[in-house]
Formats: sequence, C-alpha cells, structure tokens
Amino acid sequence: MDSFEFNKIAAAILIALLTIKGADLISNHLIEPNMLKENVYKIAGVSPSSSGAPAEATKKGPAPIEPLLATANIQQGEAAFKKCTSCHTIEKGGPNRIGPDLYGVVGAPKGQHPGYVYSSALEKKGGTWTLDDLNEWLYSPRDFVPGTKMSFVGVKDDKERADLIAYMMKQSDSPMPLPEVKEAVPQESKKEGD
Ligand code: HEC
Repeated sequence: MDSFEFNKIAAAILIALLTIKGADLISNHLIEPNMLKENVYKIAGVSPSSSGAPAEATKKGPAPIEPLLATANIQQGEAAFKKCTSCHTIEKGGPNRIGPDLYGVVGAPKGQHPGYVYSSALEKKGGTWTLDDLNEWLYSPRDFVPGTKMSFVGVKDDKERADLIAYMMKQSDSPMPLPEVKEAVPQESKKEGD
C-alpha cells in the first residue's frame, strides 16, 4: 500500500517534469528568437564594428584637385563664385570687403593682399596659394587655417570647388595653364621665399 502510493507520486512527478521539458522544447521551435543586428541604443564613441574605429573617424577630405581641373567649367565656377561675392571682389584693383580682393590670388603669397588686415592665423600660415592649398582651404577654411576669420563653411562638392578654382585662376595678369599648374608658380614666390 505504501509503496504503491509512493509509485503513484513518483509517476506524477515524472510526468510533470516530462511535460515541462516537452513544452520547453516545443516552444523553442515555435518562437524563434530574433537577435538584433545592432544595438538599439547607440553609445557615443563606441563602435559596434570590431575594427574599433568610430564610424566618423574616416573623415572625407577634398579630392585631389588636378584631375578635377582638367574637366572644370569656368562659367560654372563664375556662377559658384557668387557665394563669395558678399565678402570678396575678384577684379583687378577691386576693393577689399570683409575679405580681401582675390584678383591674382592663385599662386600668390598667403595673407599678403595690400591694404587688408588678415587674421594672425592666416598671416602666419606662410607659403603661396598653391592649387592643393586652395583646394583644402576652400573645402574647409577652418580646418586648413584654424583661427581664420573667413567665416565660411567651405565648398564640399569636388566638382564645384574645381570649377571655382579654375575660374579664380583666370582672374590674374598671368593665369596658370589649366591642367598641369604645379610648376607654374609666379615669380613673386622667389622674392617672397627663403
Ligand atoms: C563671410 C565672408 C566670406 C565669404 C563668404 C568668403 N570669404 Fe574668403 N575670406 C574672408 C575673410 C574674412 C578672409 C581673410 C581670412 C583671414 O584673414 O583669416 C578671406 C580670405 C580668403 C582667401 C585668402 C586670401 C589671401 O590673400 O590670402 C581666399 C583665397 C578666399 N578667402 C577665397 C574665398 C572663396 C573662393 C570664397 C567663396 C567660395 C570665399 N572666400 C568666401 C571672408 C569670406
């Protein structure tokens, strides 16, 4: 009697356990857990990628200017220069406005236009406005010359920047030839240089 009772109880427990386990197995098949591909809450500076570099770290700079100049459009550059005319003239002998007159600036020494008071940042930058320097300057003036007083965000579009530079090159007494311009630095740089 006692052992029969015990068996019944044991069987009941066993069946209960099997039922629980069975339900678990079945439900695991019915409900497929969907794992998230990325964190819902993004933590600043923490990258989900294993490379460790934050996504923004691969900052895009300006594209090299010389290949772009080969296909640059001077008319479109002139149109793009409208962005600059609130602060700059680009005629020979034109007045300085908020910024200096830019006639002949391509290849000229930086921060030397007569009668204009530059920021010390640009004054100290040194060298001439080569195409590469102009390219970086116009992409982001503040990155190229931290502390400049040219408050202009920059022209991020590579084609537009090339058009602009091609137009500016033409506004000069001795314009550089368009594609291969690197060697054609005007004499002034000799006087000015070391
Ligand atoms: C909000 C006014 C403003 C706008 C818009 C502006 N500039 Fe300037 N720019 C300045 C000022 C101010 C300086 C002098 C910067 C300094 O001294 O740090 C300057 C300096 C320059 C210089 C250096 C000149 C030199 O003699 O060394 C170049 C080149 C130039 N700007 C080109 C441009 C072009 C091209 C544009 C249009 C795409 C433009 N700027 C738009 C205000 C402006």
